[in-house]
Amino acid sequence: MTFDRTLKIAPSILAADFANFGAECAAVEAQGADWVHVDVMDGHFVPNISFGPATCAAIRPHIKGIMDVHLMIAPVDAYIDAFAQAGADIITAHVEAGPHIHRTLQAIRASGARAGVAINPGTPAEAIAHVLDIADLVCVMTVNPGFGGQKFIDMTDKIRTLRAMIGDRPVHIEIDGGVDPTTARSVVAAGADVLVAGSAVFKGGSVTDPAPYGTNIKAIRDAALGTYA
Ligand code: DX5
Ligand code: ZN
Repeated sequence: MTFDRTLKIAPSILAADFANFGAECAAVEAQGADWVHVDVMDGHFVPNISFGPATCAAIRPHIKGIMDVHLMIAPVDAYIDAFAQAGADIITAHVEAGPHIHRTLQAIRASGARAGVAINPGTPAEAIAHVLDIADLVCVMTVNPGFGGQKFIDMTDKIRTLRAMIGDRPVHIEIDGGVDPTTARSVVAAGADVLVAGSAVFKGGSVTDPAPYGTNIKAIRDAALGTYA
């Protein structure tokens, strides 16, 4: 996995058909997705439960590219190896999930995965200032995590601050929550290079009619790059 800052669209399978995860992952990749974003929720750190490492392992063979696993769980450390063994390329933990994010990011890298750190809307950029040297990705939440389909919260000031803090380090800025063609441009202009989108990608399509996924991904990509008509 080489580093670059070109725009990447990462559909969140939280908005996919849960009875068809494998086919949904293959469908969004065939329709132009760059990464596949996998939202793990524990009903404790966030008020919703999704799925765990066994599901990640089951869908792994259906993803050709990057499996981007977003852990909305606390505690994190005891589960890192399970998600790494499930085939996660990137494992992202929340800075709010415990007192030892530095240790957690070290443990993620030791597992062989790339390490991501996520920050909730209420958390300042400065909370992760001292882990940027051991992170591969910063995930800026633009909703309070727990559910798909929520309204976008403007975090462009925080994204700009983080982009400046990151400087020339090889660290992605990922945006998660409420991304659609109307919100994509502002976050990319502020410095983001990875856009997670759930409802805005999966709306209108299905595994038997995946063409809308392609139309939706293209609309987000074109809007983000400023070529949306
Ligand atoms: C929020 C999740 C997101 C979410 C995005 O808790 O981390 O990845 O599924 O969904 P949309 O794009 O529908 O806001
Ligand atoms: Zn997510």
